[in-house]
Amino acid sequence: MERVIAFLGVFTLQIKVFSYLCAVALVAGCSEEHLPEDANGRELYNFHCAGCHQETGVGKFFAGIPANANTPMSSYEVVQLIQKGKQGKEGMPVFEQLTKREAILIAGYLKQLQP
Ligand code: HEC
Repeated sequence: MERVIAFLGVFTLQIKVFSYLCAVALVAGCSEEHLPEDANGRELYNFHCAGCHQETGVGKFFAGIPANANTPMSSYEVVQLIQKGKQGKEGMPVFEQLTKREAILIAGYLKQLQP
């Protein structure tokens, strides 16, 4: 019986340690602003843009967010929009944390996304 109790004690301790580690991982995960360097266009788009424009690029009509999958903007213009924003267009944040390469990957992905 004592063995069982000792076993249970160790077991609950393990659960505590485990949940503590999970909580730490969760907090660290939330503060992550950047994907790994080998992330592709789709992963970058889904991470940075889909929150507003949705994964399909249809936007959110009622929140005033336009579709971007059918944008008439060129890839170059989209890269500029991502990195520098656009004068007079306040609605969309500027993504200063993204590198040029990442912005190009996102623009490339967006241009082949069908709404
Ligand atoms: C916080 C919400 C938000 C996020 C995140 C966001 N956008 Fe936007 N986006 C907007 C809004 C709002 C507009 C409309 C801006 C305006 O016209 O004033 C817009 C417009 C655009 C347009 C122009 C569409 C058109 O043809 O008029 C493109 C292209 C675009 N976004 C691409 C992106 C990309 C690529 C990302 C990710 C790097 C992104 N957006 C992230 C809100 C967002």
